[in-house]
Amino acid sequence: MSGKTIASTEKKPLSELTKTTPKDRIAECVASMDHEAALIKRTIGIKKGTVLDAGCGGAYIDIALAQNKDLDFILLDPAHKAAKAAEENMKAFGYGSRAQVICGSEQEIPLKDNTVDYVISTSSIGYWHNAQKGLEECYRVVKPGGKIFVSDISWDSYRDYFGMLKQSEIEYFSVHNEQDDMWIEICKKESKKGEK
Ligand SMILES: C[S@@+](CC[C@H](N)C(=O)[O-])C[C@H]1O[C@@H](n2cnc3c(N)ncnc32)[C@H](O)[C@@H]1O
Repeated sequence: MSGKTIASTEKKPLSELTKTTPKDRIAECVASMDHEAALIKRTIGIKKGTVLDAGCGGAYIDIALAQNKDLDFILLDPAHKAAKAAEENMKAFGYGSRAQVICGSEQEIPLKDNTVDYVISTSSIGYWHNAQKGLEECYRVVKPGGKIFVSDISWDSYRDYFGMLKQSEIEYFSVHNEQDDMWIEICKKESKKGEK
């Protein structure tokens, strides 16, 4: 009887699996955001001040950016589980004191106008019920002269982000499409002397 050889699935010994700690696993997720972190730095030149991450999930991008000690973070996510994970992950990396975690929605950001220096959002806008309202909310809370970076807009290409932004009150924006990356960049105009 001619027998077929069925490849056996390779199982890792338990001792090897237990070598990875929860922090190691978070570090892997953080490392997977290296490309995104570099894109953010290159695009909006994130240097100093407060960063709001809208739809932060486990805050992996924030951990990647937090190596810059001049940045503080406000981490916003509507999912309790995500907000809790963001808080725990920031603490695990020693960044807990620089992070304020808010369980809330980008549709109504619980912050005053002109509060933060930067808004970032990665792989989240596709979930927003009303993306235009969410972007306007990000714009409302960023300070004049501040910048907004929203990435991973490629997989919901049915949305016309350019048209949406044109219809909004947002003045300076661009929608980028470079190789595998698609992102929105927004600048809030500095108010001139005497202007409100
Ligand atoms: C794919 S995860 C991305 C998380 C993180 N920004 C990252 O890049 O790793 C999407 C996140 O958007 C959040 N989110 C924001 N607005 C949402 C909404 N309106 N409905 C569902 N999820 C939403 C989810 O809770 C989730 O944490």
